[in-house]
Amino acid sequence: MTDQKKPDQTTASEKPWGGRFSEPTDAFVEKFTASVGFDQRLYHHDIEGSIAHATMLAEVGVLTAQERDRIVAGLREVKADIEAGRFEWSVSLEDVHMNVEARLTDRIGVTGKKLHTGRSRNDQVATDIRLYLRDEIDVIAEELKRLQSGLLDLAEREADTIMPGFTHLQTAQPVTFGHHLMAWYEMLARDAERLQDCRKRVNVMPLGAAALAGTTYPIDRTLTARLLGFDRPTENSLDSVSDRDFAIEFCSFAALLMTHLSRFSEELVLWTSAQFDFIDLPDRFCTGSSIMPQKKNPDVPELVRGKTGRVNGHLISLLTLMKSQPLAYNKDNQEDKEPLFDTVDTVKGCLKAYADMIPAIRAKADNMRAAAKRGFSTATDLADYLVKKGVPFRDAHEIVGKSVAFGVAEGRDLSEMTLDELRQFSDVIGEDVFDVLTLEGSVQARDHLGGTAPNQVRAAVARARKRLRLV
Ligand code: ARG
Repeated sequence: MTDQKKPDQTTASEKPWGGRFSEPTDAFVEKFTASVGFDQRLYHHDIEGSIAHATMLAEVGVLTAQERDRIVAGLREVKADIEAGRFEWSVSLEDVHMNVEARLTDRIGVTGKKLHTGRSRNDQVATDIRLYLRDEIDVIAEELKRLQSGLLDLAEREADTIMPGFTHLQTAQPVTFGHHLMAWYEMLARDAERLQDCRKRVNVMPLGAAALAGTTYPIDRTLTARLLGFDRPTENSLDSVSDRDFAIEFCSFAALLMTHLSRFSEELVLWTSAQFDFIDLPDRFCTGSSIMPQKKNPDVPELVRGKTGRVNGHLISLLTLMKSQPLAYNKDNQEDKEPLFDTVDTVKGCLKAYADMIPAIRAKADNMRAAAKRGFSTATDLADYLVKKGVPFRDAHEIVGKSVAFGVAEGRDLSEMTLDELRQFSDVIGEDVFDVLTLEGSVQARDHLGGTAPNQVRAAVARARKRLRLV
């Protein structure tokens, strides 16, 4: 062999797969094909997977108990080295898997070379990502629950606070702020369900599929799955090393969650503006302007809204990555990691920001109330009042429309008109009309499951707390 060794480059024969190669990998190609720069974050799960694999190999008699013990102890040392910063990742060893394995062999000698018996990097990497994602799902689920719980506390606190409800961003009917917040809660509750549903399909073990067809060793996949906390082994070896649909599902959960957070953000941004002035966001969640001294900008919600773009993009990346791949493993799949990792990081960051920020929101109840009084928000209540007095709904609609036109001309709300003024439009109107024209009367009247009445908000919060198991 006449391999000329350049710095940071192994000879072909030093590569774990170098046997059939007669020249070193091109320096650029080595960097271009390496994933260690980003997949090193899988080291912990890679090592856990290897420990379980070695344990299973010893159980079925492929390794001796002594070999297993050396491998397991060696892997624990490699992990300690990585965590203590005593590990130099080598690009020429391509990925996390070969870096860890090479270090194991450095540490324990020839026994280290037996670890890869009966497996391939193809089933190894698929296993690692699933283990990684399962852990991250559990962290995300907890953070989501913290946000949900903060939202329930805020909704309960604001159960009686009245604000305008909107359709088309035009004043529609009065609602309680607590009810509005519980709408947000419902979106998040569905996200949490989707996450748990996705977890079921993540928590299945591909290890044992080997490169694509399975292996000739008498492996016990059920045992390995149990050791790693998987619900079961996968059913088909080709599918196991190939599909990344579980990661796509996670990104799809993430895109919907971010879409919801983005909608909340849009409302928070509007509500903190001088024009709405519905809420106060504490200074610690805002930043200023380098030129305009008066500015207090709602950066956190704005940034969450903005970050929705990259998460939606990652979903499209993974779908596109998968769409034309023939069975089974293809190197394309190495491109699954960066979008997935960034999705996980982004979602965790946004959830943390939101879980910290939501309990700190202060409603400006007087401003909300004043806004609800503008825009004839109780017009539907007047129509319903007329219907209850025997007027057909379409006629009632017409009568109220005329009353509103009168109010617009006079610059007065329906509740600010006299009884005689209202009676110009219908003589069934009596003194009791003023009970339904108040904002409180309007929200209290919507007193049924899913309605905006303060009682219903409190009941919805109590039910949600039970579902979240906070009581
Ligand atoms: N770094 C690779 C990946 O992320 C590991 C699997 C490589 N397998 C192979 N046959 N080249 O997908």
